[in-house]
Amino acid sequence: MSASAFLKTITARRTHYALKNTLPEGVTIDNVQSIVQDIVKYTPTSFNSQSIRAIIITGELHKKVWDQVVNAIEGDSGKKRPTSIRDEAYGSVIFAIDSDVTKKFQEQFAFIASLFPDFDLTSNGAAQINSWAALQEIGLGGHLQHYNAAVKAALGDKIPESWNVEAQLVFGTPVSQPYEKTFIENEVKVLDQ
Ligand SMILES: Cc1cc2nc3c(=O)[nH]c(=O)nc-3n(C[C@H](O)[C@H](O)[C@H](O)COP(=O)(O)O)c2cc1C
Repeated sequence: MSASAFLKTITARRTHYALKNTLPEGVTIDNVQSIVQDIVKYTPTSFNSQSIRAIIITGELHKKVWDQVVNAIEGDSGKKRPTSIRDEAYGSVIFAIDSDVTKKFQEQFAFIASLFPDFDLTSNGAAQINSWAALQEIGLGGHLQHYNAAVKAALGDKIPESWNVEAQLVFGTPVSQPYEKTFIENEVKVLDQ
């Protein structure tokens, strides 16, 4: 029994900040859309509530949204990352939770209402990280950002009001290797008593 192909994908995923505004040769935006669509569809959610939402922005809209994020930030140092996203990345997957779904399940299962926000974040995070890993499999580089309020404001009526923006998976063609990553000793023990 081996999970080696899956583990290879999981362990290869990295943060790539240095991107260029292209897709790798042979990759189309339809490929990206189809991957994210499947991940949103098949990521499990509590009670199968299906609270995960996503849109992919590219082109002029990508520039406009990230320009608005840049302008919403005070002080030059904080503008560096969104400026590079605006000028160098190809696109961003915007992940959201539909708060109408959260509310509906909180009402239906009132005895565990307080658990639903965590459930929804768990599933949303899984979709974010699996998308990140899958996009790297087709040669894209990406990094995860959280300019949630500014991105939501910049998107305006392009997403429903009930969508709480949770993360932005920024992607493009990677132009350098990620930094050397270190790991803590963090043994997962098997206990039987
Ligand atoms: C839940 C989560 C939130 C993150 N938020 C940010 C972020 O807001 N900005 C950022 O530059 N990187 C963010 N990262 C990237 C992490 O810093 C990065 O994943 C970590 O340093 C490990 O590096 P790796 O992605 O190359 O494995 C986030 C990653 C995760 C998993």
